[in-house]
Amino acid sequence: MSEHLTVVDHPLVQHKLTIMRDRDTPTAVFRQLLREISQLLAYEVTRGLEMTTKRIHTPMAEMDAPTLAGKKLALISILRAGNGLLDGVLELIPSARVGFVGLYRDEKTLQPVQYYFKVPEAMEDRVVIAVDPMLATGNSSAAAIDLLKGAGATNIRFLCLLAAPEGIARMEEAHPDVPIVTAAVDERLNELGYIMPGLGDAGDRMFGTK
Ligand code: URA
Repeated sequence: MSEHLTVVDHPLVQHKLTIMRDRDTPTAVFRQLLREISQLLAYEVTRGLEMTTKRIHTPMAEMDAPTLAGKKLALISILRAGNGLLDGVLELIPSARVGFVGLYRDEKTLQPVQYYFKVPEAMEDRVVIAVDPMLATGNSSAAAIDLLKGAGATNIRFLCLLAAPEGIARMEEAHPDVPIVTAAVDERLNELGYIMPGLGDAGDRMFGTK
């Protein structure tokens, strides 16, 4: 596997993921667990962010204390399932700027088509974290990253919950500069492009649609 792929094998992440995979887990529990896992994954995807120091006074003394450097992060939700990861990550990084990329799959060409795109200004100066729970074929993720690069982003990380080997390969081919953080890499895609064994349709499971 690539050095750009991080699988977060922390016991809490794996335990919560198993409950999410279970088809009998209700929507409200699924959503709550996604929020919790997103924060544990956010911890990993933000590792190595650039730091600086600032002079502060504790009640005891003055010190140069570490603080995040640079412009505010940009969190980009790939609609609609990305919103399930976004909320938890945003709780952890409340000052982040937020953008949205909407793509649907053309039934004839099977290629992703953009229907919404709104991102923060000065993308070239920010660390950009794109979130989408399921990295399946990788086509829409790769297309979303294309759009973010088109908007000027040069420092992009991709956060998902589950990845298929096919999606990882597609992303590595299209965007070898984008590190991927995931909770698990599953076996394969089925003929409909669903991750196996996966957890089903992440959007339907988190929003209670079918
Ligand atoms: N999107 C989903 O929601 N689930 C999959 O298994 C693949 C793509």
